[in-house]
Amino acid sequence: MNVGIIGSGTMGSGIAQVAATAGCSVKLYDTNQEALDKAKASLEKILNRLIEKGRIDTEEKNRIQSNITYVDSLKALADSNLTIEAIVENIDIKKKVFSELESYVADDCIIASNTSSLSIASIASSLQKPERCIGIHFFNPAPLMKLVEVIPAVQTSKTVLDKSVETIKSWKKTVAVAKDTPGFIVNRVARPFYGEALRIYEEGIADFETIDHSLKTLGGFRMGPFELMDFIGNDVNYTVTETVFTAFYFDPRYKPSFTQKRLSEAGYLGRKSGKGYYDYDSSGKIINSCHHELDSGSHEELAQTIFDRVLVMLINEAADALFLNIASVEDIDNAMTKGVNYPKGLLAWADEKGIDWCVTKLDELYNEYHEDRYRCSPLLRKMNKENKTFFN
Ligand code: NAI
Repeated sequence: MNVGIIGSGTMGSGIAQVAATAGCSVKLYDTNQEALDKAKASLEKILNRLIEKGRIDTEEKNRIQSNITYVDSLKALADSNLTIEAIVENIDIKKKVFSELESYVADDCIIASNTSSLSIASIASSLQKPERCIGIHFFNPAPLMKLVEVIPAVQTSKTVLDKSVETIKSWKKTVAVAKDTPGFIVNRVARPFYGEALRIYEEGIADFETIDHSLKTLGGFRMGPFELMDFIGNDVNYTVTETVFTAFYFDPRYKPSFTQKRLSEAGYLGRKSGKGYYDYDSSGKIINSCHHELDSGSHEELAQTIFDRVLVMLINEAADALFLNIASVEDIDNAMTKGVNYPKGLLAWADEKGIDWCVTKLDELYNEYHEDRYRCSPLLRKMNKENKTFFN
């Protein structure tokens, strides 16, 4: 299969590696020669590291490298069966590139975008044949993260959806099919992990370290929300939240936080700037975290309150995504475990805690705050009445 990748930055170069490893003939295109050189050098480094670790041999490295050609013209992608675009997140630029690309490729070439936040329907509208357009959304780093969200637009044909799913599965990825709505699955369902943690902090219930510690020890999350926001970058994470909030017509559930906005404005971006919620040394290690032992009764109770509150808000978001047919039960749970490494799928977690527990916790929050943010998903309420679970 001939695969054309547009944009050789972080995502484009990772996707090229995935497709080349799966045996596709890949052409990687960028307008910036430096970006192409960097992608080539970085792949060489990554493959050498894989050899050192004993994951691949030199022959495999040569095979992967020989499957990628670095090109400096869009026209060079003319013989592609599938193209995936990973350029700047700007709708006008994407539309322009898509419309030019369509003039070069064959009628049955699938034209996909790796966009995180733009509407696939809107990108597809730039094409003469919008039914060939689809969202194929990888996670960073693409070679390591198992999940790929596949997003058909209203215009996308069933053939294009089926072919895309089949291709991505053959690249040894887990596919979750999502509706063309803001944040798709992961970037929507994960919002409360950051938002509720920030709200708990802003209310003065606990400090960053305690909140992080609660979610790691009681929830088994690899990183606490504040560590993770510092890792992603407070500028990037804030922008995603603001985009989702705006796209959902200002639903209070997605409201961004002033705490994060101020940090971002101050340049306290997190690990990459040496300072965020935590301070970092030059190797990216946290240097000012005090470890909180949750030994005393009151500490344990506080940790449980924090964990329950963030978890139930995540479950509510996942249940609402199912309620609104954004994706299937399996795909919603796979998305969170394979796209952002959650220790468990949120709907399976809801079953484990009990739907009654979820409804009671959410109603307690709603009764305390009287804010729409804490409204319980109608699906959870209905399931509770009917004594149903998500699985079995
Ligand atoms: P990046 O900034 O690392 O790379 C973008 C590349 O596109 C640059 O090398 C740039 O020279 C090139 N480019 C810009 N305009 C171009 C054009 N008209 N034609 C050809 N090449 C052009 O960006 P990154 O992070 O790789 O993101 C790319 C896309 O992937 C965006 O749509 C983003 O929303 C999405 N995405 C990003 C993720 C991330 O964690 N960075 C995760 C999932 C999706």
